[in-house]
Amino acid sequence: MQDHVTIVRHPLVQHKLTLMRERSTPTALFRQLLREISLLLAYEVTDDMPMATRHIHTPLREMDAPVIAGKKMALVSILRAGNGLLDGVLELIPSARVGFIGLYRDEETLEPVQYYFKVPPELGERLVIVVDPMLATGNSAAKAIELLKEAGARNIRFLCLLAAPEGIERMRSAHPDVPIVTAAVDEGLNEHGYIVPGLGDAGDRMYGTR
Ligand code: URA
Repeated sequence: MQDHVTIVRHPLVQHKLTLMRERSTPTALFRQLLREISLLLAYEVTDDMPMATRHIHTPLREMDAPVIAGKKMALVSILRAGNGLLDGVLELIPSARVGFIGLYRDEETLEPVQYYFKVPPELGERLVIVVDPMLATGNSAAKAIELLKEAGARNIRFLCLLAAPEGIERMRSAHPDVPIVTAAVDEGLNEHGYIVPGLGDAGDRMYGTR
């Protein structure tokens, strides 16, 4: 990936995102839209994966055909909202290994607090795609990536649905080597650290917890 931030402007992504933002969109539809968008975002975040060729036989003749080189990929979900993106991406890349990082946001300091960390082995040899729908302050994302680097990850990308300029800036200063793929960059954060106009609390909207 060349750019630090890639905005996926495909009409299908933008249309589905608008439906997700709408406050009257019910939980089941919200989850379904997130799964559908994650397939389209996964397509973008993997667009320059190294390729190799494999010798195959079609019904008509032999050929050297393109395949993805190696199968070393890890998807890492930041709990719990990350799981909504994870499901779709995993559908597209079923052989990927999966990790989970549990971070919750202290609502006063807005700082991330770690409560869970389980990732696949040999992270240094894998393309690691970290998924979390909302890049808000960037504190959780930056912390998750710091933990992954400590665990050996070298080739990391961050996939989200919505980003705030503050979160992008935080990531740019903490992890300039980590490209970000998102469907949109919104205006900014409100006093509670929510993305505006945003779509509200992604976890609550996915699981109906509010
Ligand atoms: N997390 C969310 O779910 N929504 C926001 O707007 C910010 C952080």
